[in-house]
Amino acid sequence: MNSVLWFHAPVILFFCLWVYALPGPCFNVSLMDFMETDTQRQLRDLMRKFATKTMLPQIDQDEREERFRPEWIRALGDLGLTGIVVSEDDGGAGLGYQEYISALEELAQVSAGYAISVAVTGLAQLILSRFGSQSQKSQWIRALAEGRAIGAFSLSEAGSGSDAASLRTTATRDGDFYVLHGTKQWVTQGDSADLILVMARTGGPGPLGISTFILEKGIPGFRLGKREKKMGCQVSHTMELVLDQVRIPAENRVGAEGDGFKVAMTALDSGRITIAAVALGVARGALDVAVRHAQHREQFGKPIGEFQGVSFLLADMAVQLKAAQLLVRHAASLRDQGAAFTQEAAMAKLFATDMAMKVTTDAVQVLGGSGYTQEFPVERWMREAKVLQIVEGTNQIQRLVIGKRLLEPLV
Ligand code: CAA
Repeated sequence: MNSVLWFHAPVILFFCLWVYALPGPCFNVSLMDFMETDTQRQLRDLMRKFATKTMLPQIDQDEREERFRPEWIRALGDLGLTGIVVSEDDGGAGLGYQEYISALEELAQVSAGYAISVAVTGLAQLILSRFGSQSQKSQWIRALAEGRAIGAFSLSEAGSGSDAASLRTTATRDGDFYVLHGTKQWVTQGDSADLILVMARTGGPGPLGISTFILEKGIPGFRLGKREKKMGCQVSHTMELVLDQVRIPAENRVGAEGDGFKVAMTALDSGRITIAAVALGVARGALDVAVRHAQHREQFGKPIGEFQGVSFLLADMAVQLKAAQLLVRHAASLRDQGAAFTQEAAMAKLFATDMAMKVTTDAVQVLGGSGYTQEFPVERWMREAKVLQIVEGTNQIQRLVIGKRLLEPLV
């Protein structure tokens, strides 16, 4: 067995390098080209160049070692890729979500973990630009847009995940300060973030008793709790945050007292489009590798792609991916036009992440035994796809959001 593997090792290695060194998708379906503008294509190319040259050779080892590299976020910032939707006045590119999703999709093909990292910093940018005071904006937005600062978003707690409005961390007013106390959970990059947008309770129970605060790194009383051991996206650390009587200036409150739940929901509407874009990237990578494999792997005297059992599987994967791309682009375009998009964002997130789970699982199937090994990226994409069905609202919550809006009375 070992000698067989050893014999095939150079072939396997060559195949992996060949697949990874790709300049773009290999399959014969024009998935996005018909809709993308030159700017979107340029952003995609820029992201692909950085991700394949700098990240790809290192990413598998970093995943194993759970190593996050803030310098890559800075490098993405230098390329203008961390502030795509931030206004030019604030140091961003002043573009829209359609450009943002093109770039995120591309990054996710190499690392869903870094794509999520960029998207979560995007949540912080969005909250500050939409609800922040002038001084909060001038202190943070340019730094976040340029990749010189990393942002995080902290809503969930052990007892309040899907039922976000039941959170228990308190923020008690004390003169010109608030004192924050409680434990937050599932905070993406809570350990590397320079600022964390924290939701805490300033009033009575339910959504109207919640406010949003800027928590800065290193403030007394704030410490990191456990780091979750996860099945995928290990470069992106998921943290527990312990707030032990943390005293923060009242001017760190973002928006009015009691607006925190709306702030969080507004940010998540947009965040769900970005998670859907990450799902597109993961699925596209998996389909790409599966198609190549089906073209070159021979069994029973011919490439396995010539068997309908395989080609039909690939056809279904491509159809699902294309449908998801259209849904995600539609949600992004509504957002860019300033139209309501809550329901479409939930639809895009639900469909694209379920699609990514299915497509990556089927890609493992097409590669057979090889697909289950770490020689090929498809098993990693399959693990990464799983979390996308959970983060920024489980897909059950997306159905709730969609169903609620469907049943709203017409006005
Ligand atoms: N935009 C603006 N306001 C909104 C809104 C939206 N999309 N959705 C709801 N609201 C407002 C409502 O209008 C309502 O205010 P009014 O009473 O003034 O009208 C208020 O918020 C309460 O709304 P609901 O009654 O609908 O609230 P609910 O308690 O039933 O919750 C929910 C709705 C959709 C289930 C919500 O709790 C939810 O989205 N849960 C999932 C939370 C989630 O996605 N968590 C993941 C966080 S990501 C993370 O933590 C990881 C990370 O690092 C990024």
